[in-house]
Amino acid sequence: MASDDLKGRDLIVTQEWSKEDLLKVLELAVKMKANRFGYTHVLKDRTFFMFFYNPSVRTRQSFECAATELGGHAQFLEPKSMRLKTKTTAGETVEDAARVMSRYACGLGIRILEDKVTKYGEGDELIREYARWADIPVVSMAHDKFHPCQGLADVMGWIEWLGPKGKFEPEVLKGKKLLVVWGHGALARSWCSVQEAILIGSRFGMNVTVAAPEGYDLDPDVLAAARKNCESQGASLEVTHSQMEAYRGAHIVYSRNWMSPDAYRDGEFHKQEEIEKAMKHTDWICDASKMALTDNAIFTHPMPIDRGHEVTDEVASGPRSSIYDVAENRLHVQKAVMALTMGNL
Ligand code: CP
Repeated sequence: MASDDLKGRDLIVTQEWSKEDLLKVLELAVKMKANRFGYTHVLKDRTFFMFFYNPSVRTRQSFECAATELGGHAQFLEPKSMRLKTKTTAGETVEDAARVMSRYACGLGIRILEDKVTKYGEGDELIREYARWADIPVVSMAHDKFHPCQGLADVMGWIEWLGPKGKFEPEVLKGKKLLVVWGHGALARSWCSVQEAILIGSRFGMNVTVAAPEGYDLDPDVLAAARKNCESQGASLEVTHSQMEAYRGAHIVYSRNWMSPDAYRDGEFHKQEEIEKAMKHTDWICDASKMALTDNAIFTHPMPIDRGHEVTDEVASGPRSSIYDVAENRLHVQKAVMALTMGNL
């Protein structure tokens, strides 16, 4: 059946899509998971551009597989293979690059975060600039603010884990407690995955608790949006520095390192300083004793995991870990997004 109402849409953050649209993606992803090679007509002979400023395992590989399984092809691009204008060098404008890319491809994915931006929000601005000029859908493949494909894969995995076996019932998330807890680590990660999880979890009626040491606040605008999402669902958003209390009663534990708001200063990313500061908080690690405080919670993480810092091996590889299911779901949700926004179903 043709589904045209998402045709041409950009996906920069799930918050900009209606709940109905998100459900449409998830329902198609579930069908595609059950019939993995039954959609080879959807992007037949079409090319999806993947423009990576930063490295990736899951995102690059899952998008490549997604394009192949839809009958098309994903092409890898990186800034060093183009002559783009930057703050310090002459080159091609985003307008020209985006307009030309639109003549070739059916969609454009972009990843830009961490050390490839000089201030928080710069990656978001760049993606929106591409979206402004491109005539094809632009999809964030993780940028400094959001990671929409990860958020969709997260909720798909959580629904599968917490709902009845063999049925897909998104309502199962309503009223469940999602704990997003900071973990120490040596990666100084951007806020994209955790902010996306907080936004999409709150859209699905979850009670969200964000726990972090002092000095690790997330974007206040994102938290305000999540609070509104919660209120509209009769749910709550809590922000705390008390991790032990935060674990109590959780149904999902999402332990992840993120950089502090001081990471970008004076037009620079202070990565080493962030790592040294984070590594002092050795007590901020998800382990079995903390998981024992929860309501038999599942463990979730977008990966790659900084094992031994963010979470112990025992929890990450334990019987309540959803990590590989969520990672697999990246493929299915991305196929669904590509099919609905740029394909022929
Ligand atoms: N979760 C995620 O985006 O993984 P990669 O950085 O490996 O793509």
